[in-house]
Amino acid sequence: MTDFKTGILISFEGIEGCGKSTQIVLLAERLRDAGKEVVVSREPGATPLGAKLRKLLLDPAYSPDALTELLLYLADRREHRRLVITPALQRGALVLVDRYVDSTWVYQGFARDEVESSLIEKLNRLVAGDNWPELTFVLDCPAQVGLARALERNRETGAEGVADRFEQRHLDFHEQVRQGFLVLAKAARERFRVIDAGQEIEMIHDQIWREFSLKYAIS
Ligand code: TYD
Repeated sequence: MTDFKTGILISFEGIEGCGKSTQIVLLAERLRDAGKEVVVSREPGATPLGAKLRKLLLDPAYSPDALTELLLYLADRREHRRLVITPALQRGALVLVDRYVDSTWVYQGFARDEVESSLIEKLNRLVAGDNWPELTFVLDCPAQVGLARALERNRETGAEGVADRFEQRHLDFHEQVRQGFLVLAKAARERFRVIDAGQEIEMIHDQIWREFSLKYAIS
């Protein structure tokens, strides 16, 4: 496999229940088998401060306005970048993140439609700086399919009936989120790869691996 000199940041995006975390685990395993250092992370909540912010952000007891919500996600990201992402990239690791800058643009911007997208873009750039993803996989599926899976996951983990603040939102909101990711992907084709998340897990993984191998010239 190519010996990467610098780290690579890859993000996974999509609606709730689209299967991001499963695919991250599969890609991480495959890369580790090939001898790479892989750091798997997620937002929100990857740091001690972030874990507290995550609790607040997902708690249905609160309904912050869009700007407050935006600032909390950005605070989480800044800490995540400082403590996890930058050090890992500096070591030359491959960093796979479950949600990153694009989730903010879509959830706090496009789907809520209360904060200017250009402001979100500016703040995202300020917070993430040169730790910008090189490659972003959008796992795309209808909102109904994703939400059904998210509810199933809650049932399996014993969290039935305790949908978080985002899962409680209407189907229309999630469909809007889905469209938001597709809009972004269309606008920056060199970075984004949209994958049909309705396929079998192995097929999705094969497609992700193919795209990764093509981009980084791995045979
Ligand atoms: P999580 O349980 O991690 O959801 P998922 O498994 O679908 O990733 O919850 C994260 C929630 O936070 C999710 O609903 C999306 C939302 N979110 C934002 O609204 N803005 C952001 O910038 C990020 C990173 C996440």
